[in-house]
Amino acid sequence: MPQTDVLIIGSGIAGLSFAIKMAKRFPDQSITVLTKADDSESNTKYAQGGIAVVLDELTDSFQKHIDDTLRAGDGLCKREVVELVVREGPKRLEEIIEWGVEFDQDTSGNLALGREGGHTAKRIIHYKDITGLQIEKGLLRQANALSNICLLPHHFSIDLITEHHFKRKISQPEPGISCYGAYVMDQDTCKIEKYVSKVTMLATGGAGQVYRTTTNPLIATGDGLAMAYRAMAKVKDMEFIQFHPTAFFAQDDNPSFLITEAIRGHGAYLKTKDGERFMFKYDDRGELASRDIVAQAIDNELITRGDECVYLDCTHLPTEDFISHFPNIYKKCLSKGIDITKQMIPVVPAAHYQCGGIEVDVYGCTSIRNLYACGECAYTGLHGANRLASNSLLEAIVFAHRCFTDVEKKLYAINVPQNIPDWNAEGTTVPREQILITHTRKELRDLMSDYVAIVRSNERLMRASKRIDILYHETERLYEEAVLSPQLCELRNLITIAFLIIRNSLERKENRGTFFNKDFINR
Ligand code: FAD
Ligand code: SIN
Repeated sequence: MPQTDVLIIGSGIAGLSFAIKMAKRFPDQSITVLTKADDSESNTKYAQGGIAVVLDELTDSFQKHIDDTLRAGDGLCKREVVELVVREGPKRLEEIIEWGVEFDQDTSGNLALGREGGHTAKRIIHYKDITGLQIEKGLLRQANALSNICLLPHHFSIDLITEHHFKRKISQPEPGISCYGAYVMDQDTCKIEKYVSKVTMLATGGAGQVYRTTTNPLIATGDGLAMAYRAMAKVKDMEFIQFHPTAFFAQDDNPSFLITEAIRGHGAYLKTKDGERFMFKYDDRGELASRDIVAQAIDNELITRGDECVYLDCTHLPTEDFISHFPNIYKKCLSKGIDITKQMIPVVPAAHYQCGGIEVDVYGCTSIRNLYACGECAYTGLHGANRLASNSLLEAIVFAHRCFTDVEKKLYAINVPQNIPDWNAEGTTVPREQILITHTRKELRDLMSDYVAIVRSNERLMRASKRIDILYHETERLYEEAVLSPQLCELRNLITIAFLIIRNSLERKENRGTFFNKDFINR
């Protein structure tokens, strides 16, 4: 049985930042980082715009960043959390730079600052248009250099281990639920083993794959959140799904290629196919309104005009400067037949970020003892009803540190029971028809995109609720009978995510941020 002191599920910015801190502080403790794909595959790797952080005291201030975050969150952010994230950001940024992550500099050697929607100052640090790749590579390099970190790619976490797996076997269970690690499948051998640990962190990222059109890579199936929900952790605000306004329009792409908001910050315009700018009809900030407003405006244009996409026009921007800032986007668009110095880029909104998640306190503690959640899978209260652009990488580094400070105090005092049972696969058989899984996944994505996307209505939500119930029961039956596969587990997790988005949407009685039900009149 693999035994580790600290188990981290996920190797994006949240999991790796926490792992590095723990490994440096506790050289005598073993830190295991599991990830279900290659070690770098994550939402983090695809981040383009950068990290929002206040560095220029002449043009910016903590207060301005706090106000922008609160405004984007549409009244639902936790002020205390917004304040601490914004104020602690610069210190945490310094640390990842010390660990070897590089960012672009201006001609005076200071970090170059970009601008994105909803921000009233230039405060986005970045590395060209591949900031996430630079961060992921830097953190992996640092983690691999620490001998007490064991990084295991292609290890799929199936479920958390809590008392309910062995409650009849312990004489006096403590009140409340504790986490003792996870059941994990080695995807090369298909063997399921228990990973027993004192502390477990979920850093499993988002769930964009629950929609047909998403910027999120294939790994983003909400596994950590679904595991936490099954273990009875508190989950909050799942109705707030942020759609990024500008993903490259190509119907069969999964994921859809993101056209960073930094391009609008750089001066690009949103236009209809007739070349008309339309954003000022919706908001005085035009193309730089916050994301919820831009995505809803585009959705409205598409519905009223009957068009398949709108366009991002960069043709008026100086070519060399543009290509040096956005080389990857320039190349990618060329490969898709669009020369952005001469042609407009066809774009549509795509599911991008989960604002809600596993509820945690200001130290990343979930409602389950010794279980932490960090990064996109967690709800900290920072984002409210709509995340401000480039605030999520910031949130991940600030909260990874806060989780670390909490674990630091407790680690040596935590005991793990010895009688945790092995995974029980008795009576299961290999499913003969894989189509049962692939078709249901497609059905689920269509259902969510057609009924529970940018604009919702009571009737669509009620329909979605009835249909998700059917998919849930069919998939649970399959899960009980089948030898497990990552595909089946992901489907089951996505159904849980969809259920939570629909349930919370039905419960919400007013429009806020990313949540818009056309049957309500308050917007
Ligand atoms: P991730 O980076 O997604 O990592 C999740 C990890 O968990 C992965 O290693 C995955 O394999 C693993 N995992 C998941 N399930 C399991 C399982 N069952 N078993 C084992 N491992 C599992 N935010 C910004 O602030 N600025 C930006 O510029 C920006 N740009 C973005 C661009 C794109 C295209 C996308 C998709 C997102 C962007 N975001 C941006 C959002 C940001 O990238 C994410 O919110 C952030 O990277 C999430 O980090 P994370 O560590 O929480 O999760
Ligand atoms: C982008 O670069 O537009 C994405 C930024 C983000 O999601 O925070």
